[in-house]
Amino acid sequence: MKQRAFRLTAFLLLCWSVHAGVILAGQAHDVIAKNGVVVSVEANASDAGLEVLKRGGNAVDAAVATAFVLAVTHPAAGNIGGGGFMMVHLAKTGETRCVEYRETAPAAVTTEALARLNDTSRGHLSAGVPGTVRGLALAHEKFGSRTWRELVEPAARLAADGFAIDAHLARSLNGWLSAAKDYDEAQRVFRKPDGSPWTEGDRLVQTDLARTLRLIAEHGPDAFYTGPIADQIVADMRAGDGLITKEDLAAYRANVRRPIHGTYRGHEVFAPSPPSSGGIALVEMLNILETVDPSKHGRDAASTVHQFTEAMRRAYFDRAVHVGDPAFTDVPVDRLTSKAYARELAASILARDRATPSDELGKNVLTAGEGENTTHFSIVDSAGNAVANTYTLQDSYGSYVVVRGAGFLLNNEMTDFNLQPGVTDRRGRIGTPPNVVAPHKRMLSSQTPTIVLRDGKPLVVTGSPGGRTIPNTVLGVVTNVVDFKMSIRDAVDAPRMHHQWMPDVLRVEPNRMSAETRQQLEMIGHNINAAGRQGDAHSIWIDPVTGLRHGAADKRLSGKAAGY
Ligand code: DON
Repeated sequence: MKQRAFRLTAFLLLCWSVHAGVILAGQAHDVIAKNGVVVSVEANASDAGLEVLKRGGNAVDAAVATAFVLAVTHPAAGNIGGGGFMMVHLAKTGETRCVEYRETAPAAVTTEALARLNDTSRGHLSAGVPGTVRGLALAHEKFGSRTWRELVEPAARLAADGFAIDAHLARSLNGWLSAAKDYDEAQRVFRKPDGSPWTEGDRLVQTDLARTLRLIAEHGPDAFYTGPIADQIVADMRAGDGLITKEDLAAYRANVRRPIHGTYRGHEVFAPSPPSSGGIALVEMLNILETVDPSKHGRDAASTVHQFTEAMRRAYFDRAVHVGDPAFTDVPVDRLTSKAYARELAASILARDRATPSDELGKNVLTAGEGENTTHFSIVDSAGNAVANTYTLQDSYGSYVVVRGAGFLLNNEMTDFNLQPGVTDRRGRIGTPPNVVAPHKRMLSSQTPTIVLRDGKPLVVTGSPGGRTIPNTVLGVVTNVVDFKMSIRDAVDAPRMHHQWMPDVLRVEPNRMSAETRQQLEMIGHNINAAGRQGDAHSIWIDPVTGLRHGAADKRLSGKAAGY
């Protein structure tokens, strides 16, 4: 009897929630909702985006609010001192655009100065001119609908009032603060006031950052690029060995770019164009895989893993040889993303039943290392607009430089340039010309926020951190849904793999393949390394039949899928 009453209550609750437009499924990592969904690495940030949606803001409004809150609550990668890429799909016109806000090299940069970053990848010299505030403002100006102030204000409030940190942030801050002993301002701003280690539930208050965010809320992006915040950045640069000047900041522009567009088994795929390599690499790999039908033998068959690996190897070789800031380098986008080129590459894979040694594709081509932190969030609103946003400080906590009195970290994105021109080696360093530093140039990125459409409507919204692993993480999520018919939850959870041409190693998450598959792959010449976690792909799938939005936060870090 009791059980029946319970079932009835549950049923009525479900009916009510469907009627009210809300269906809650399970944990904070998952949500199924009728109207809008925000999925990010941090609960306050997802909730802030959701609030904007509920008040009638669109996906871009929510993205601006979420991004500013992440700058407060996820300081390792959420930022106003870094840069990134925002994919925007507009339901009304059917267009998809890329708001590119990648950092630029200061005017005074030289290859000799940059070579110093080979020894230390942190400090003032490692910082590029930040793009985030201009980028978010550009996205808002072109596609937003609410006032700028109301989108920045929640972040300012959280910084001023403080928030209870979770176990993940406590661990992360403690680890970083012991690595950043020489960075006084970082210690002053982020150390727990009594000097003890942070623990879950402690309150992090950021008074300087609150003041900075209020200036941005009130005066717009100019406060950051030509106003008082610019003065603080430049004063800090002078005190350190930094190169960023007032002119560099004033000259910074974000861009709305035509994204890379590909098709894959009846779907359309949109991802960033250069200066990210992500869109080109993703579409090149999908085009190759389209010729072989990965679902034929199943996701875990040796032949399938072999095809994925060979597609990755070739796309990453092309990335190293051809891709850089389009203002400085002619990138053969049309050729690299064409079906004809993919058929050529697929034929070169089929021509042998063994791994292609990476050396054979190109000897002596050079690359630079990429770090371990960035963050991605996905948003869909009730009108069907979608945003996929990835932004970063490059490494966790970027340059470790907190701008004195301003409370925020600067990126160390300059390390994404090829630091040693001419040196490409088996360890993964790349020294190819397209990504050698020059004044005002944008460093090459791998960020791949991605929107997949079916019948002109968003089906999958995804993206990930992970430096050079990013396009491969996105490739995994997209093919898991399209080829292997997984739910978005399973597609995000499924163990990942990564090959980047050099070093010639296939890195796999635990349980990516059986021992037998691994043995078969090794027999045909693949070098396989078990690796730790790969990426953090907070994603959304929209059911084409019911229109319900399924949000899946990646459980590899933390995260929340919020919806209504
Ligand atoms: O733009 C890029 O490709 C890199 N700076 C991203 C770095 C990154 O994802 C590190 N994160 N885990």
